[in-house]
Amino acid sequence: MKKSLKHDLRYLVSVLLLIATTVACFSGWLADVWGINTFLIHTWSGYIMALLALLHTVWEWPRLWAYGRVRLRRRITPAVRSVAVPSQPLVPAPVPVRAKQPFITRREVIGMLVGGALGFAGGWRSSSPQRMQGDADWGVQYHTWSKPGAANFLSPILDWGQRPAQYKVYPQAPRLALPAPGDAQGLSLEEALRQRRSIRTYAATPISQETLSRLLFHTDGINAERGGIRLRAAPSAGALYPIEIYIVVHRVEGVEAGVYHYAVQDHALTQLRAGDMRDEVMRAGLWQRFLGEANVVLILTAIFQRLRWKYRERAYRYALLEAGHIGQNIYLAATALEMGACAVGAFDDNALNALVGVDGEEEAAVYMLAVGRRG
Ligand SMILES: Cc1cc2nc3c(=O)[nH]c(=O)nc-3n(C[C@H](O)[C@H](O)[C@H](O)COP(=O)(O)O)c2cc1C
Repeated sequence: MKKSLKHDLRYLVSVLLLIATTVACFSGWLADVWGINTFLIHTWSGYIMALLALLHTVWEWPRLWAYGRVRLRRRITPAVRSVAVPSQPLVPAPVPVRAKQPFITRREVIGMLVGGALGFAGGWRSSSPQRMQGDADWGVQYHTWSKPGAANFLSPILDWGQRPAQYKVYPQAPRLALPAPGDAQGLSLEEALRQRRSIRTYAATPISQETLSRLLFHTDGINAERGGIRLRAAPSAGALYPIEIYIVVHRVEGVEAGVYHYAVQDHALTQLRAGDMRDEVMRAGLWQRFLGEANVVLILTAIFQRLRWKYRERAYRYALLEAGHIGQNIYLAATALEMGACAVGAFDDNALNALVGVDGEEEAAVYMLAVGRRG
């Protein structure tokens, strides 16, 4: 082969190897950030990189071999022994001596240790937080995928849909205006925090409409307006308020038993279903008896698109966090009103979604809490 052609080919292999390595690194990073287990670009660039590296090694083998021999061979150093002859000038008498040199110098050992430590620290820091576990459950996969990362660069070209209506309305359903919550004071916040417990035994007496009104108002009622935005008792990411509250009424004075939606914008109840729901709500709550014995059961649903159009892949995280805020408000408001509450996370999703009439995809039940007079 002509010498110049050989040189060109070597150069080409090196350049291609550099490109394949860059693509493999970048696609590996993307796969990590997005949690993609099968990313063909990464797989193929890895194979191509390995092939080119092999070619490169074969081609450069004579050089590599020569270099290795020089490095690994025990060094033969010509030592000079001087022989002093009194009346004559110093005559150098070169005698080749096979002097035992260290296999590796101190400087090389330090270099290797420092380089190794830096490489290990760098690799560990950059890879471990984003690495997907092959057997990670969906929750972990979602959590990893929803970390801010490369997906954010692409967000302008991804369509995350339109912002839905802020308030859910049922135009045909009967409305029940709740009494104004008023200024009555229950327990202080500190006292409510001290007394809060999960209560599962309830008295058979009803609660008043006013008590229900105060419970809902302090849970997530609209209590302020700033810059045209109506703010609520519980915080919400971007004030987008994805959580809806449904109330299954068992025993409230002057309110027919049934399923209601909290129309927060008017502080009113919209009746969705009428009738005794105790069996249905207990069944949805995996037969936890206290769900049929409480005065009311509050069911929190999330309309995910209210968050998704803005927060994209982080929407689901925020929905659950917000349900948690509201859930704690329910506990504290119930305690302040001298009632008890108990959170329920163990429920049959399909049954609970059916109970409040949501599809479980656009809007889904995420939490339920029983509230009632303590028994
Ligand atoms: C997310 C979540 C889910 C829960 N699910 C249930 C449940 O299904 N049934 C139940 O009896 N208690 C449930 N609880 C209540 C816990 O059992 C209770 O908070 C815990 O025992 C601590 O007691 P405390 O709330 O009185 O401090 C749940 C609590 C949380 C925060």
